[in-house]
Amino acid sequence: MTCTVLYLLFSSLLLSFACACDRCVHQSKASHSTSSLAIAAGACGYGPIALDFNGRYVAAASPALYKNGVGCGGCFQIRCKNSKLCRSRGVKVVLTDLNQKDNQTDFILSPKAFMALGRPGMTPQLKKLGVVDIEFKRIPCEYRKHNLTVRVEETSKKPSNLSISLLYQGGQTEILTVDVAQVGSGNFRFMSRRGISAIWEMSNAPTGNLQLRVAVTGGFDPAWISTDKVLPADWKIGSVYDSGSQITEIAQELCSPCDTKQWK
Ligand SMILES: *[C@@H]1O[C@H](CO)[C@@H](O)[C@H](O)[C@H]1NC(C)=O
Ligand SMILES: *[C@@H]1O[C@H](CO)[C@@H](O)[C@H](O)[C@H]1NC(C)=O
Ligand SMILES: *[C@@H]1O[C@H](CO)[C@@H](O)[C@H](O)[C@H]1NC(C)=O
Repeated sequence: MTCTVLYLLFSSLLLSFACACDRCVHQSKASHSTSSLAIAAGACGYGPIALDFNGRYVAAASPALYKNGVGCGGCFQIRCKNSKLCRSRGVKVVLTDLNQKDNQTDFILSPKAFMALGRPGMTPQLKKLGVVDIEFKRIPCEYRKHNLTVRVEETSKKPSNLSISLLYQGGQTEILTVDVAQVGSGNFRFMSRRGISAIWEMSNAPTGNLQLRVAVTGGFDPAWISTDKVLPADWKIGSVYDSGSQITEIAQELCSPCDTKQWK
């Protein structure tokens, strides 16, 4: 696997991200969890709301895919290689957790996702196996019923401590920076990623109605998603707010062409 490290300098932050040729087909193994909630409410920090991202099709991924939280919200198509037991189109999952338990597999799937690998009637055998050989690739996330949505996290504290998660992240990108400004002020302040989660926080949040500016990996350069008003001046903890925009970019990777066929 060829891998190039790109450095980007903007927002006074030095960011680096690795090109892992995610879109290429990789061979690995997958196991399953007994609890969808444990995976959904995993290390990314989305909480139970992530059960709703993709109909409980969620997964914990290895550190190489989790990328210290940068991989959170990414979508993958996974299929098991035993054609007797498994469907050729596999399943599509959203990454919501870090697989720290098991260094033999790249993915721990939610029970629903794991069972859906199987052909009709084959799920008992799959379950018995517990771990299966898979191939997987990164795919764009498609949320027809949702724009990029902001959830105000419980650790927020008015007036100036704001922490948010970004739900229903479309496209095939990674979120690099999140900036917040009072609507119309042009005075954007940056948020910081909390640990290795998908939660962004700041302790100097502006007041008033707030807008967001999000940088994602785009073509070969970052792409910016700007929103008009997202958070009202009286934002509330635990509430979700429609950003009115969606990410549709597909990040390009500096790797040789790889499988672009759809798995059906
Ligand atoms: C994987 O985990 C096992 C048991 O925890 C450990 O003995 C082994 O060294 C690990 N392998 C790698 C490659 O980290
Ligand atoms: C505000 O957030 C910062 C980290 O962003 C934290 O250290 C601080 O304790 C928080 N303050 C309050 C009052 O919650
Ligand atoms: C997304 O936001 C636009 C406004 O920019 C709105 O018209 C549309 O209804 C929203 N879509 C969904 C699915 O909520």
